[in-house]
Amino acid sequence: MTRRVCDAGEVVRAQVVIIGAGPAGLLLSQLLHLAGIDTIVLERRSRTYVEARVRAGVLEPGTVELLKRAEVSQRMERDALTHDGFRIAFGSGSTRIDLRSLAGAPVTVYGQTEITQDLIAARLSLNGAIVFEAEEVVPLDFSGAKPRVTYRKDGRSHEIACDFIAGCDGSHGVSRACVPAEAISLYEHAVPFGWLGVLSDTPPVGHELIYSRGERGFALCSMRSPARSRTYVQVPVSDSPEQWPDQRFWDELRRRLPKDAAEALITGPSLEKSIAPLRSFVAEPMRFGGLFLAGDAAHIVPPTGAKGLNLAVSDAASLADALIAHYRHGERRPLDTYSESCLKRVWRAVRFSWWFTGLTHRFDEDAFTAKLQLAELEYIAASRAASTMVAENYIGRVK
Ligand code: FAD
Ligand code: DHB
Repeated sequence: MTRRVCDAGEVVRAQVVIIGAGPAGLLLSQLLHLAGIDTIVLERRSRTYVEARVRAGVLEPGTVELLKRAEVSQRMERDALTHDGFRIAFGSGSTRIDLRSLAGAPVTVYGQTEITQDLIAARLSLNGAIVFEAEEVVPLDFSGAKPRVTYRKDGRSHEIACDFIAGCDGSHGVSRACVPAEAISLYEHAVPFGWLGVLSDTPPVGHELIYSRGERGFALCSMRSPARSRTYVQVPVSDSPEQWPDQRFWDELRRRLPKDAAEALITGPSLEKSIAPLRSFVAEPMRFGGLFLAGDAAHIVPPTGAKGLNLAVSDAASLADALIAHYRHGERRPLDTYSESCLKRVWRAVRFSWWFTGLTHRFDEDAFTAKLQLAELEYIAASRAASTMVAENYIGRVK
């Protein structure tokens, strides 16, 4: 059960106020709790909404370790799939990226939906404070010594005084938006297409993921379990899911897959269907006095490299470690270097996600780019060095 946080007009205190109950905010709250640091999480949406949101599915080894450290890995260790490699298909050719032999570790396939549910269950079982449906959340006075956050709940106003504010409220949140424009630099790159994703209770086409560069556009066959598929096709960003009845989606997916996968494809009704735009975005720095940004609040990557969730989790762990060093040992340096150290990792992931997107997606009317894509894909298929670059970036670690 959620602890009652405060009555109208009353000012309560927390060491850290966390805005947003996505993976970054929830993991940060859990890691701080385990270190004896108290937090209040303010989330705009309902618990039901947050727990049902379908998003990413591939976890780097570092993410799995962090979920173990946070003591939320029980269900993941039981239900997740371990993948030693994945396939990149490109018309006439195909190559398997052997993650274990090239980069020394596999990835784990486990839905972000499940991680969110596991983290919320863990926070609430430890009497953690999560205020769902918190409206008009505003971080205030974070450039001084007494930051505070105000919000409304059930028509009443509330205020929390704190030492630090963590902005984990995604790309459209309030935290980054309240930073003065002159204090922040924004770097952005968009492409004119998105991914149409379908979740279905149908068996995956194979044991491992297939990223396919089809002549008609990109497609990805992923999964959540041996009985549940998550599949995507590249579509114009202006399309809406209503334009894509199930039959049209499956027909288009089949056309973009290599022959063996197309023949193995089993279709069924969609359980969820949505379109995600593809863009790269980085805000620098990630710290403004007592306000720290983490996860999608600070950066977005196109989903092709499966990096968004993994970056969010890494930021949360870095911030947790810096705050723990501050509270336990009075150290300021980890807080001071938080932004710089995160941004190194972030730009590595931005680069890989941008590169993998450019390699596998269709850029309309651009025959030159298409030829370069095929030449590079043939090179990756032939070269252990090039495949190693892909594998190391995909697992987020250099061997
Ligand atoms: P989020 O998960 O966005 O969580 C932020 C939370 O803050 C949300 O719960 C939100 O409701 C809350 N919030 C927002 N504003 C406020 C406010 N004003 N006050 C209080 N709370 C607020 N990545 C992949 O790797 N592969 C994928 O296939 C993939 N698919 C995606 C599909 C979609 C539609 C989106 C949006 C993202 C996808 N991503 C994917 C990216 C990945 O899911 C994110 O990188 C990850 O969710 C980031 O976690 P986060 O905690 O930083 O942010
Ligand atoms: C999934 C999403 C990705 O962005 C990706 O690169 C791989 C898998 C997924 O939803 O399963």
